[in-house]
Amino acid sequence: MKLNTNFADIAESYLFSDIAHKVNAYTAAHPEKKVLRLGIGDVTLPLAPAVISALHAAVDEMSRKETFRGYGPEQGYDFLRDSINGYYKSRGVELDSDEIFISDGAKSDLGNILDLFSADNTVLVPDPVYPVYVDTNTMAGRKIIYMNATAENSFLPMPDYSVDADVIYLCSPNNPTGAAYSVSQLQEWVDYANAKGAVILYDAAYECFITDDSLARSIYQTKGAKTCAIEFCSFSKTAGFTGTRCGYTVVPKAIAAQGMNVNKMWLRRQTTKFNGVPYIVQRAAAAVFTEEGQRQIKANIAVYQQNARIIADCMDELGIWYTGGKNSPYIWLRCPKGMTSWKFFDYLLENAGVVGTPGAGFGKNGEGFFRLTAFGSREVTEEAVARIKKLLSE
Ligand code: MLT
Repeated sequence: MKLNTNFADIAESYLFSDIAHKVNAYTAAHPEKKVLRLGIGDVTLPLAPAVISALHAAVDEMSRKETFRGYGPEQGYDFLRDSINGYYKSRGVELDSDEIFISDGAKSDLGNILDLFSADNTVLVPDPVYPVYVDTNTMAGRKIIYMNATAENSFLPMPDYSVDADVIYLCSPNNPTGAAYSVSQLQEWVDYANAKGAVILYDAAYECFITDDSLARSIYQTKGAKTCAIEFCSFSKTAGFTGTRCGYTVVPKAIAAQGMNVNKMWLRRQTTKFNGVPYIVQRAAAAVFTEEGQRQIKANIAVYQQNARIIADCMDELGIWYTGGKNSPYIWLRCPKGMTSWKFFDYLLENAGVVGTPGAGFGKNGEGFFRLTAFGSREVTEEAVARIKKLLSE
């Protein structure tokens, strides 16, 4: 056999696995210490009551011969695709339901979509960014070029026509920096992609955290996006589905190249390699779009937004530079005392028992930065902030 030796070009373990190992080793060595986790962006509030009722009802359906379901449509049940379509429509975006594909989450689809693109595409990725984009393309041996996201450009790199890219990743609100593109900035990206014949892979996993109306919640709020952009979204952060697993990907029918249609290719790929998301989970996801579902998930999001304010206030008090936290659940801060990202990670873990995510794990421009998540519980967030204040004002 011949192995895919591209795997030799990625770090031995995935960023968040690496952090989990370090934290587990620390807790094993210090069982008496209470460690507060504000590292991986994992939700802590339970599923909304409307979602739970839908889950129970769907489980009951599975228990009766007349309503039992076996294999479902690989691309998702119409009831959920139509609900998502309604959600887009309510924000002025017109889609066809067969442009919406249900999946077990944005991370899987962001990796799987690469089946559609040949290995000799050049990929343009912001730095820093969610490590999945770089790792999945490195596994496939694609050439990656980086665009700098720094404090100077407010962590929002804009297109450079002297750069030729085929596949472009944008994540807005950004993981990890929390920076979010306005509709007019995204329009520039869409114009660039259409001019270059490139595709934009747009990760909108954090769109529900946008509070500022001038910022885009979907790339389809721009003109011309349907010929160049695929949008990925997830119920993980919107409705607490990190453990329940459900997401969706919008693949417009107007994206085509070399006589092939990308929507048809994705349908072919999914029907071949995927058997769909469980019926009961899709029913749970559909409940998110009911009136009470929307009210309940918004109440949960408001709790995380308040956590973000608590962390941001702490940074203000300590005089630590940070961004994010306003239209995003992440606070992106400059490591104090000139520490590197991993040095600060160790310092915070060892002296305050608080876990965060080292910025360097998101790319070279993340060095010297650190990410804290607002998805912790209120108690953990408040205690972590109190410990950070105590440590850094010593
Ligand atoms: C993160 O912490 O960056 C996210 O939780 C990772 C993910 O969504 O896969």
